[in-house]
Amino acid sequence: MMDPNRILILDFGSQYTQLIARRVREAKVYCEIAPCTLPFEKIRSFGPKGIILSGGPASVTEKGSPSVDPKVLKMGVPILGICYGMQTIAKVAGGRVEKASRREYGRATIQAEESHMLFSNVRDWPMPVWMSHGDHVVELPKGFRIIAKSANAPIAAMADESGTIIGLQFHPEVTHTLEGMKLIENFLFQICKCEPTWTMASFIEHSIQKIRRDVGDARVILGLSGGVDSSVAAVLIYKAVGKKLTCIFVDNGVLRKGEPQKVARVFRDSFHIDLKVVDAGERFLKKLKGVGDPEKKRKIIGNEFIKIFEEEAKKIRGVKFLGQGTLYPDVIESVSFKGPSAVIKSHHNVGGLPAKMGLKLLEPFRELFKDEVREVGRELKLPDEIVERQPFPGPGLAVRILGDVTKERLEVLRNSDDIMMQEIKKAGWYTKVWQSFCVLLPVKTVGVMGDERTYENVIAFRAVTSTDGMTADWAPLPYDLLAIISNRIINEVKGVNRVVYDISSKPPATIEWE
Ligand code: XMP
Repeated sequence: MMDPNRILILDFGSQYTQLIARRVREAKVYCEIAPCTLPFEKIRSFGPKGIILSGGPASVTEKGSPSVDPKVLKMGVPILGICYGMQTIAKVAGGRVEKASRREYGRATIQAEESHMLFSNVRDWPMPVWMSHGDHVVELPKGFRIIAKSANAPIAAMADESGTIIGLQFHPEVTHTLEGMKLIENFLFQICKCEPTWTMASFIEHSIQKIRRDVGDARVILGLSGGVDSSVAAVLIYKAVGKKLTCIFVDNGVLRKGEPQKVARVFRDSFHIDLKVVDAGERFLKKLKGVGDPEKKRKIIGNEFIKIFEEEAKKIRGVKFLGQGTLYPDVIESVSFKGPSAVIKSHHNVGGLPAKMGLKLLEPFRELFKDEVREVGRELKLPDEIVERQPFPGPGLAVRILGDVTKERLEVLRNSDDIMMQEIKKAGWYTKVWQSFCVLLPVKTVGVMGDERTYENVIAFRAVTSTDGMTADWAPLPYDLLAIISNRIINEVKGVNRVVYDISSKPPATIEWE
């Protein structure tokens, strides 16, 4: 059943488009992002209660720049244009936009000119907002009026006669615009008359029905990694089709300590899901022997995984579907308008599989953001240790052992990493950081133990804060926590005599070391 409370976001290529969608979803209203080039018929058939036009890097003053279809402005549906979105409304409706003498970028304050519905319940004026634009509207289209001003932008916000076509020169979706969420809610609930019907409980109910309809009597297989997305997908699909789902967990030999046992305990013992654990560690290690180049390690692990998955899948009869935890940001990347180029990480790219095996994809989270998947996981009673999990790279510890991956070196890293994890969790920092992990360096350093000199391994410890992994900062962990981790690793892990803490941010460093 289609949720009638739906908003369409037309993407003009802004870095903030996804953020707009997340804010709308946070307000419990369903929305989708489509490129600004979406044909008018498709916009109409989507049945939006409101349309948001995103910002974008182009300039409406230049020839060939993207534009909103004039028919959209006549649909009778409320429209919110943000930055470029406002400028394209102004241009199409007959106003004038000019290049500003200097780019306005950063914090500004606006003052309302009238008590428009968009500003309901905003009490503190002037309101701090986030500006980021090079062009501005200098002449209003006919019938439009100014609803807010700022020192640098006399037309900081405008609205048409009906008050339902609105343009904002600033970004309500970023947190620097203090009352931004209130403005978005006012647009959704007061102007578009939406109801807050988008909840994860209703999502679960609808998707279980849909999965049942799609799958029928066929069987589904799913590659379970133990990460949030595939774990929650496994449980949701299991709720829909029960024993018709088989999960395949490939132990590639480069997982964290106790990981295969944990996955078996949660999915087989607690959820009673049909789970096949493939112990393929030796096979992967043989292929990785003598390989130091990180990209080669990634390729080997990716290819071997596909081979094994295929071999196992062939053993199961009647399989027609491959379940995957693909998220909305991956889908958006492929449709976004001149947005950031799609970077599909090699291990996610089991892409060749379904076609080669004649399988159809079952991707229940194609419309969800990560935080929504976590909420689905909580609703489905998955344990916190899975729902709150930090990201873990597909090539696993192989890219955290710099140089050769051997059994002995894996043992050193695994034991160090395990101690670090125990202490990070005990101190309550596990969920405060984006990732925390150990890296085994390819150098030995001198130490002293008793009367003897030692010449042993160095463990680098890294913990970073981040919201999406694109940028990150090193986490300011307390000194006493660092001290406990270092002492325990050096005392308890044979072969380590030095621990260092990585204090590099991304950029210019990356999160992983390889
Ligand atoms: P970097 O090191 O590029 O990492 O700053 C950004 C995020 O991506 C993860 N990562 C990977 N994930 N396969 C994956 O599935 C990979 O090959 C891979 N390399 C990096 C990394 O852990 C971080 O969360």
